[in-house]
Amino acid sequence: MSDFYKNFKISSKDIDLRVKELSQEIYEFYNSNNVSSLYFIFLLTSSFIFASDLLRKLSLYDLKIKSDVMVVKSYIGTQSTEIKLNLDDLERNDLNNKAILIVDDILDTGNTLKQVRKELLGRFTPKMIHFCCLLKKTDDLRNMDFKVQFIGFEIPKIFVVGYGLDYNGLYRELPYIKKLKLG
Ligand code: IMP
Ligand code: MG
Repeated sequence: MSDFYKNFKISSKDIDLRVKELSQEIYEFYNSNNVSSLYFIFLLTSSFIFASDLLRKLSLYDLKIKSDVMVVKSYIGTQSTEIKLNLDDLERNDLNNKAILIVDDILDTGNTLKQVRKELLGRFTPKMIHFCCLLKKTDDLRNMDFKVQFIGFEIPKIFVVGYGLDYNGLYRELPYIKKLKLG
């Protein structure tokens, strides 16, 4: 399978178009739910490019956005490890009764979002909490008891880099997304 996808790539043009569409989907969703004020929380480090593009596209809509970050670490190289969350920064915000959108780069096992959701709901009682990921890896076995409402692209189960996604800190600067080639 890995060889079949060796030239896998999502161009910067396709990313830009899809992020624009996503911003519209997000706005329409909140607008139709009579939400005019949104808490936009993005997960550092790897979502920083996607989140900043998405935020700027959302600025075109009539939506009041407060944004903040959460630091999450779950990967060393291409291996998923124990997830470490830093929620301290969020303590200065009152997330009770707020509409929260959690933004991340990629949904793989779902463990990161599960953990983030659990911690947030353990500390706050938001009005609603939704999730947005630029990428979602195909995985029929993913065991999640909640939905990620906004997804940019479904991709095969391969390790990808670029547009903020890294391999040990490398390749974040690429304006496109491609399969990691080692060696
Ligand atoms: P999950 O907890 O398994 O869903 O993994 C999500 C996190 O792992 C993401 O926020 C990414 O930072 C990282 N990750 C998962 N797959 C990849 C990949 O293919 N390339 C780079 N990072 C990845
Ligand atoms: Mg990440």
